[in-house]
Formats: sequence, C-alpha cells, structure tokens
Amino acid sequence: MVDQRENALRYASSNKENFLRTYQEILLIPSISTDKLHLPDIQRAAEWLAKQLHALGMQKVQLFPTSQSPIVYGEMLGMSGAPTVLIYGHYDVQPVDPLELWQTGPFEPTVVGEDIYARGASDMKGQAVITLKAVESLLQTGGLPVNIKWLFEGEEEVGSPNLEAFIAAHTDLLACDFAVNPDSGMIGKEYPTITYGLRGLAYFELRVHGPAHDLHSGGYGGVVHNPANALAELIAGMHDDNGRVTLPGFYDRVRELSQEEHAELSRLPIDERHFLEQTGVSHLYGESGFTPIERTGARPTLDVNGLLSGFTGEGSKTVIPAWAMAKLSMRLVPDQDHREVHQQLIQYLEEHAPKDIHWELKTLAGNPASISQRKTPGVRAMAKALETVWGRQPYFKREGGSIPVVGDMQRLLGVESVICGFGLPDDNVHAPNEKQNLPTWYRGIEAYIHFFLNLSNGR
Ligand code: BES
Ligand code: MN
Repeated sequence: MVDQRENALRYASSNKENFLRTYQEILLIPSISTDKLHLPDIQRAAEWLAKQLHALGMQKVQLFPTSQSPIVYGEMLGMSGAPTVLIYGHYDVQPVDPLELWQTGPFEPTVVGEDIYARGASDMKGQAVITLKAVESLLQTGGLPVNIKWLFEGEEEVGSPNLEAFIAAHTDLLACDFAVNPDSGMIGKEYPTITYGLRGLAYFELRVHGPAHDLHSGGYGGVVHNPANALAELIAGMHDDNGRVTLPGFYDRVRELSQEEHAELSRLPIDERHFLEQTGVSHLYGESGFTPIERTGARPTLDVNGLLSGFTGEGSKTVIPAWAMAKLSMRLVPDQDHREVHQQLIQYLEEHAPKDIHWELKTLAGNPASISQRKTPGVRAMAKALETVWGRQPYFKREGGSIPVVGDMQRLLGVESVICGFGLPDDNVHAPNEKQNLPTWYRGIEAYIHFFLNLSNGR
C-alpha cells in the first residue's frame, strides 16, 4: 500500500501556489474586530471560511451569530475509534494604525522575497489556512485519519467576549478529545515551538476629570490640578523601583515557578540579546530577580497601552485640559483573577487619587491565564511532527500573549489544547508591516499533515 503520508506531502508540495492563492484571498478582507464599521468585513470573512469548510466536505457547516462576530463551525466525524480533534482559529485581526508606516496596503497582500505582508498574515489567518490546507492534503489523498471539528471566532483580538457563553451553550456540539490551536509562533525559524503557557489579561480605560472645561494654563496654572499631570502621577505610582506592580495584593495569588521550570526556561535559545534585537531598545526593563523569558511568560505586568489628553497637534497651545485618559492593561499569570485585579486597581485609585480630580474606570476585557498539559497524546503527536519537519525536537515555551479560548476550553469542555503555530518573533504582529515567512508557512502545513497522521498511529 502506498503511504498516505508521502502522498499528502506530495499533494501539498505540488499545490503550493494554489495554497498561497487561498491565503491571499482571506488576507484581502479587512476583518478588524475593534471597529464596528468593519462588521460587514467580519461577516465576509466568516462566510469565506464557511465556504472553505463546505469545499472540504465538512458537515453541519454553519455560522452562529453573536452580538458581534459570527462563530463558524463545521465537522467531519465517522472515524469510529479515532480521536476527535477540535481545531480552533480566529479570523479577526487587529487595527492597522498607524497606516502611514505600512510599506504596502495592509489588506493588499504582497510577497516580498520569502515573506508575505498583510494584516493577519501571521496573527492568524496564515495559521488558520495552514490547518485548512493540511486537512485538504489528507482528504485528497485517502481521507482524514481522525475526526475533526472546527471552531472559528471573529473576536479574539478584542478578548473573545462572546465565546465563553457560546462554548458553555454548545458543549455537546464541541465535545472532543483535545483541541489544536495554531494561534501562536516559534522562537525562531529553525526552532519549532510548542506553547504551553499563556498569560491572562485585565484591560481598563481610566478617565480622570478635572476642571469643567479646558483652561488657560497661564490664568489657572497654579490653582487647579491638571488632570493630565494627575493621571501621570497615578500611573508612575503603579510600579516601584524594582519594576514591581504596586496595586495592593497584585502578587498574592501569583503562582511561583518551580526550580525545574526555571531551569528549563533558562535553556531556551532566547536571551537578553534576542529581546534587544527584536525591540530596538538600548536596555531591558522589568521586575528584578527574573530573566526576560520569565518576565514575559511567567510574571504579571502592567502597561499603558494608550494615553490621551490636551493638545497634541503641531506647535504649542497653552492649555490645562479638562480630562485625561489612559488605556491600561495587566498581563496575568496563574492563579490571578482578573476580577480581583479590577478590585485592586479600584483600591489603588481610592487610596492614591488626589481629591481635586475624579476618576472613572471602565473594564474592556478580562480573561485568566492558562497552562496546558504537555504529556498528552496530542502534544506527543505534534512534537514528533515538528521533529520530522525541522529535524530537531521542539522547544516548550510560555507565551506572554493571551488566547482566551484555551482557558475557556479547559474549564467548559475539560479539554487541553496543543498550541502550535508558525509565526516568527519579527513578524510585526499588531504593528505595521505584519508578515509571515512563507517557507516556514509551508513547513507548517507539512507539520500539521504529520500531526494528524501521527495521531492515527496511536502516537
Ligand atoms: N495570537 C495572539 C496571542 C499570541 C501572541 C500568541 C504572541 C503567541 C505569541 C492573539 O491573537 C492575541 O494577540 N491576543 C490578544 C488577546 C487579548 C485581546 C485578550 C493579546 O494577547 O493581546
Ligand atoms: Mn492571534
């Protein structure tokens, strides 16, 4: 009997150009989830995915509307005795601003050398298409060795506000042995990586109000507390000299790293230099006593994501603004609770906000961190697949970003996720000129072909 593995890999390698065309199709759709104006594009991206699932011969393909972006589902079952794998993806993308820094249009996918540039190329339309094309390669060469279900959402980049309720209401439909989640990346092009830790998030908008209206800073500077100054003072107080967050009780629940994990993380091929190169800063910053990889993966942080107040146009205008606003978020680790962090922020503001201003706090997103088990058949099948394609065993990494669905699935479906995608550290995700390295993308398709086949071989 001819080996399906060989045939599926051959199918993939002889269809590279077709695959790239499909990838470019979805990259054309500006499915930005933060902006209501893009709802029609969100809808189009969801319908595009449903069409792909239909074309693959999936059953029960449907769009489930939510208050914002539809959830796309499809399945192919019937392999009795084989595991059922739930494949996750998100079809929404981050906003594109600052647009003027893009070298090519964010929704005009452009191949330059080995890379394809477009918003969502890496995070994560490229990763989603990898799973579609790996499945296609298997279906075209004898069929799938496992049962699969697909779950695509269009709100991941805004914190998956409707996904938890959807999963809770559809536990039977989504029942599976485990999930695969390609919404992630690699340590480097030659370093296949499985992500086993993700941070949680608590995201807020803090507004500080002062005078009833803007004031002449000559006439009133000296008698009113400038809300921009007050906001800056509040933010400055949120870290101490050791880079630790000062919100009351912020570290109380933080799960400490074990000696083993500390030693293991220190063996990853990521050092200070990696972060200096990726960021362009001259010195690193952060909580003292922890390595950079620990500070991003295993320690909580607090950052201002945006600041707005007063006069920001060209030239000078002497004004005391009436208000100031900060977008503020905390990355959380096990076992912090985003609702408790909300209370801690309130307490901090109650204790530190001066009496001469008043503040308002709005919650924008919140989800807990997750740690995924590593000694599972799914992880073993993926590790073997990566080793086959890259010729070296994968690294296991904790990621500083968040993917809310991973924790939702643990809590609501009782299943673990195998988190493995093929973005690279210099892909400019969430930034101008996002890209995906194409040779790595093709290797990703091969890896997923091996992964599905490894599962059926009882690996
Ligand atoms: N794909 C990312 C998460 C990620 C980033 C995984 C880097 C691995 C490496 C995801 O799409 C993302 O950006 N999530 C948001 C979620 C948030 C809005 C809840 C994030 O982390 O900011
Ligand atoms: Mn993503």
